Amino acid sequence: MAEDLQIIEGSKAEQYQTLLPQIKALLEGEPDLIANLANISAALKEQFGWLWIGFYLVKNNELVLGPFQGPVACTRIKKGRGVCGTSWAEAKTMIVPDVEKFPGHIACSSLSRSEIVVPIILNDEVVAVLDADSEALDTYDETDQQYLEEILGWVEF
Ligand code: SME
Repeated sequence: MAEDLQIIEGSKAEQYQTLLPQIKALLEGEPDLIANLANISAALKEQFGWLWIGFYLVKNNELVLGPFQGPVACTRIKKGRGVCGTSWAEAKTMIVPDVEKFPGHIACSSLSRSEIVVPIILNDEVVAVLDADSEALDTYDETDQQYLEEILGWVEF
């Protein structure tokens, strides 16, 4: 496919609906995990302009920083720690409207105000998480959860 994304204005659902087929096309025929996670991060950053978007991969029982877009970030997170480590431990998507109200939130950037973390589950095990951070409160909701989970379902490990 062409390497330029079509970026649109509109409702959140409309933005995802235009972006999803483009992300699918980027992933099609490309088996390399890092390449695919890098392009997913870049595509989401371009469309939504969030502060930070990227992946942590489970390696030796820790989350280790993977491909991302945004400011430099913490490299390692333990199971059960922060929003990412909680999503991993509980194998479920975490939507945090106000990070200051999430006990144990790890502030990689003091600018982050709200966050969503979506696990990637393979054979009943979390193998990675997608983390998105916003400078605004209450950025993420079930619409993000639904579309982000759909995107992550396409990633081959
Ligand atoms: N805030 C996350 C840490 C990762 S950074 O935001 C990129 C957490 O609490 O797990």
